Amino acid sequence: MNEAISAKLSLDLISGRFTVADFGCASGPNTFVAVQNIIDAVEDKYRKATGQNPAENIEFQALPPGRRYYSAGVPGSFFGRVLPKHSFHIGVISYAFHFTSKNPKGITDRDSPLWNRDMHCTGFNEAVKKAYLDQYSADIKNLLYARAEELVPGPGGLMLIFGSGLRDGVKMSETAKGIVIDFNQASLDDLARQKGHVAKSLRKYCLGIPMIVMIKNRVSSTKTRLLKDQDKVDSFSIPLYVAEESELRKIIKENVKFTIEAFEDINHPNGEFPLDPKILAVSFRACCGALLSAHFGLDTVRKAFELVEVKASEEFSRIQNAKPGMQYLIVLRKN
Ligand SMILES: C[S@@+](CC[C@H](N)C(=O)[O-])C[C@H]1O[C@@H](n2cnc3c(N)ncnc32)[C@H](O)[C@@H]1O
Repeated sequence: MNEAISAKLSLDLISGRFTVADFGCASGPNTFVAVQNIIDAVEDKYRKATGQNPAENIEFQALPPGRRYYSAGVPGSFFGRVLPKHSFHIGVISYAFHFTSKNPKGITDRDSPLWNRDMHCTGFNEAVKKAYLDQYSADIKNLLYARAEELVPGPGGLMLIFGSGLRDGVKMSETAKGIVIDFNQASLDDLARQKGHVAKSLRKYCLGIPMIVMIKNRVSSTKTRLLKDQDKVDSFSIPLYVAEESELRKIIKENVKFTIEAFEDINHPNGEFPLDPKILAVSFRACCGALLSAHFGLDTVRKAFELVEVKASEEFSRIQNAKPGMQYLIVLRKN
């Protein structure tokens, strides 16, 4: 990132104004760390280019200590325009580039040939994969068009995209992150089935004591709830598509507004992520817990993640033997 900013960014020395935009920012301190890293790199470039220290604006002291920038939040989806034309110099997207604006058509519809019982694109069904890729390509096209409008005019504005991808030919459910999502699906299935057992045992009890009509009523409402629970699991999909490297390159290339300046693996000394059942469960909850809670309710999601951790421990060898995923940094320069 530092290299890209140093070599590729055009500094606007005339206005002295510099704007960074984080698309899909975090809601906590991570947001500021991400922006501060970029500002440090830009200041470094400024120092090298001008031999001077960048000016500090003391008005910014009301914001968290040490920050030398104004900050604003813009509600809206990054698949469309969220900022005025020509309004920023560097945009960053960190671990938000795998979202789609919606689930592909038919994916959550039982009657559709594209119905996908899995809650994500596992990669094993060609037609389902194509539907996800088509949706993702259309969304990323819109996202890049919007950013190209919002970046400063002329060439030189940068988009730094950090994210999670797949190596060519690797299926999502062959990687640890895909397997963890599959554990989540299985956990939600288990919970729906457990409610089914409750319904069955209640029915037995009921037949033994036919006079208790109230319990019968409870049975049928439990059965209805069971159906609803399984329906809920079957009709849920996370709107994301983890693309293969060549797919990402192709989508970006087709959008003629940007040139890929760098496409690099981010290699962490400890591997892609710690292979620990608890950390895997917690990480996935951090990523998708809010989405899941909105659909299933907090209580179910809490129980589901307890089960995910159990499954991850029980089937740990599957995770250990999973195919490697990919963490990337893509540097795009506006043409
Ligand atoms: C995994 S978090 C990453 C947060 C942060 N960028 C980081 O690296 O720590 C993904 C973020 O993308 C946001 N996001 C997803 N789809 C979005 C959209 N269409 N428009 C704006 N933000 C979106 C989510 O709300 C969430 O805050």
